[in-house]
Amino acid sequence: MSTVTYRHPTVQDAPAVTRLIRDSGNLDVNSHYAHLLLCHHFRGTCLVAEKGFDLIGFVSAYRPPEDPGVLFVWQIAVASSARGAGIAGGMLDRVVQLASGGRVHFVEATITASNAASIRLFTSFARRQGVAIAHRRLFPAELFHGVEQHESEDLYRIGPLPSTSCERNDFS
Ligand SMILES: CC(C)(COP(=O)(O)OP(=O)(O)OC[C@H]1O[C@@H](n2cnc3c(N)ncnc32)[C@H](O)[C@@H]1OP(=O)(O)O)[C@@H](O)C(=O)NCCC(=O)NCCS
Repeated sequence: MSTVTYRHPTVQDAPAVTRLIRDSGNLDVNSHYAHLLLCHHFRGTCLVAEKGFDLIGFVSAYRPPEDPGVLFVWQIAVASSARGAGIAGGMLDRVVQLASGGRVHFVEATITASNAASIRLFTSFARRQGVAIAHRRLFPAELFHGVEQHESEDLYRIGPLPSTSCERNDFS
């Protein structure tokens, strides 16, 4: 059985990333071009998980320009056949560690109230780090009206992270 490996994406990964997000079941499907941009301009704060030659996980994240001490995790997805094995948790731990270079003090993500797996994923991350997690409404459902049916998105904020977990950046 092949082990799971983690690395930053390249633009060649974008088609598999688009398919993974599209097949994830409950994520907003961004354009393929958006995934190309993530794998190009934002590759240092994104990660893929692979098993053999299969791309089975992807996390996209970025530092908000006005708050670079935050790593905002945009989307995280694991192929349905690989779920429940700690791969999302592994990607989250690594992307925070590798993206940080000592400068990320908080991790943020928006989650809908019905996404129990995602809430658990980020709550477990906070527990592993030994830091607080708090949430508040960020994008109420009304902001989606006239465009699409969408649940409210709550902002989860985790931290402050211990500086020792944020000092490595040894990934290619
Ligand atoms: C959310 C998702 C990324 C989790 O991936 P995963 O690799 O199965 O997650 P992990 O195995 O690392 O589990 C992380 C934690 O969540 C828990 N968890 C996983 N799936 C769960 C579920 N369906 N319901 C409740 N908890 C769940 C695990 O028990 C684990 O908790 P623990 O660390 O306290 O034991 C995956 O279910 C997925 O791709 N979902 C569709 C896309 C999505 O909703 N993404 C999140 C919003 S951006």
